[in-house]
Amino acid sequence: MALEPDSADVLPVFDLTSVLGLSLNEANPELCASIANCLHETGCLLVRDPRVPADHNDRFLDILERYFGLPVDRKMADCRPGLDYQVGVTPCGTEVPRCVVDSQMQDQLRKLKGSNRATLPTGADLKWRYMWRVGERPSVTQFPELNAEPVVPQGFPEWSSVMDGWGAALLGAATTVSGLLARGLGLGGNELQELMVQGPHLLAPTASDLDCNGRLGAVLAGYHYDLNLITVHGRSRFPGLYVWLRDGRRVAVRIPPGCLLMQAGKQLEWLTGGYIMAGMHEVVVTEATLAAVEAARGAGHSTWRISSTVFTHCASDAVLRPLGRFAEQPGSAEAYPAIKAGDQVQRELEAICLRKVTASPAAAGAGQVVRPPSPVANKTEPGAASTSGLSGTANNTPIGGVTGGLNNGSSCATGVAISAVR
Ligand SMILES: [Fe+2]
Repeated sequence: MALEPDSADVLPVFDLTSVLGLSLNEANPELCASIANCLHETGCLLVRDPRVPADHNDRFLDILERYFGLPVDRKMADCRPGLDYQVGVTPCGTEVPRCVVDSQMQDQLRKLKGSNRATLPTGADLKWRYMWRVGERPSVTQFPELNAEPVVPQGFPEWSSVMDGWGAALLGAATTVSGLLARGLGLGGNELQELMVQGPHLLAPTASDLDCNGRLGAVLAGYHYDLNLITVHGRSRFPGLYVWLRDGRRVAVRIPPGCLLMQAGKQLEWLTGGYIMAGMHEVVVTEATLAAVEAARGAGHSTWRISSTVFTHCASDAVLRPLGRFAEQPGSAEAYPAIKAGDQVQRELEAICLRKVTASPAAAGAGQVVRPPSPVANKTEPGAASTSGLSGTANNTPIGGVTGGLNNGSSCATGVAISAVR
């Protein structure tokens, strides 16, 4: 059977080498326009940035594999639920994918056909995550939980330098792209970069234990968009990430050596009045994932799947609204009303169960939230999820329905006892 085209087959690579050291005004206008077009048409970009060396990614993956290999109680010392998990570790079985709770997204899911269908989760994600703050923090903010001190785990003296170094490299690439993108969108040049100053940017690797979750179709991270401005991905050691292009195609992510994948988040959709839509994605265990697990096991390497992810954000106290010509589009002000970025983030965190609900979680333009379920991890059966289609899982659980047992204190599959740490 012919292999489906992957991201490296269908997306062009934008090389930033030619613009480094130039002012935005000196950047090639065609490059700027092509970047804007690619994000408009696909929601994604492949970027080559010579300032981002691959060996930094390896050091980053090595330290995260060691960290997530620790016993659960060691890792839970770094958990900060009172700060909405925006620093430190988030255990598996905590974050609920948006498609489980958002009726608008469920309608969108039903329209996906054939090989473009999402793998349907029925509860919280199987992945863990670590949130590491990158870049300068504001001295005064209305949103202290989103701008908190980073958490440094005990026993990793090199942690801060490895995390700061890799986080800054990915943030630097995204900052350059934001400048080129703003020009390509006809906004002038600095609008996006200015919004990013002192934003709560996060180096936010996910970590999935493929020893206990290495079964075909397991949903490590269910179908969702990212709530931030632009997400940057370096290479992971295990395949499994899929993105949807704007035309509805589901594409496996393969990042060419020396490149990064970027995907639009909700804040970029907001600022462009929907001209660029937040990109959907999921992480599932596939045959290719299992082959990589076997190879890692054979070589005596870790079988934790670590993602190399940075979430870039607009500053929490900045206001999101359609910019420039996007404010003139009919309906754009109604669909994307002015809102502080920190409020938009907090409402999204409420919807996906990372923050206790304080107000209506249905932020304007962010879909209709059905009901935040209890934080139970999804219970997809082996081999069932990849063929579950649009009407439910193999056991006919409806979209939005949540199944699964209570968290049982294990670090595998059903998560840890979240109630104990809230
Ligand atoms: Fe995501």
